[in-house]
Amino acid sequence: MPAAADAYLCGPPAFLTDVAAALVEAGLPADRIHTEIFGPEPGLTPGISAKPNRAPHPPAGAPGDGRRMSFARSGLTVPWPTGCNSLLDLAETCDVPARWSCRTGVCHNCETGLLSGEVHYSLDPIDPPAEGNVLICSTQPRTAVTLDL
Ligand code: FES
Repeated sequence: MPAAADAYLCGPPAFLTDVAAALVEAGLPADRIHTEIFGPEPGLTPGISAKPNRAPHPPAGAPGDGRRMSFARSGLTVPWPTGCNSLLDLAETCDVPARWSCRTGVCHNCETGLLSGEVHYSLDPIDPPAEGNVLICSTQPRTAVTLDL
């Protein structure tokens, strides 16, 4: 193995540990080994994450432009804030539990039921969400919106 090589590993944690150790033993400097965890994790419900430390609440600052954003499971309705980038950003600002990973419309971890309203994508997803769902990381509301969060 060339000493100037870089190794890019992707897999479950135990695999990464074992293969990285073998590469170091074979003479590759540890700082040339790059890893990314990929593999089975506990099941998840897309869009819904663990409970936050704070109860959902309206965002701080001046109220938004009047389009009503409702988080049905959280029992929270707030006006869309000026300058907010995505429905996910608003959920986080309000401590509404929401799951995400890539924030670019790729992973679908943020996929959430759209109970009413219309959205538009600031980034077109590679794969569209299921019928009736939206990727909240890359959407903004066109109308008043109710999400299943
Ligand atoms: S966070 Fe990955 S698609 Fe939204």
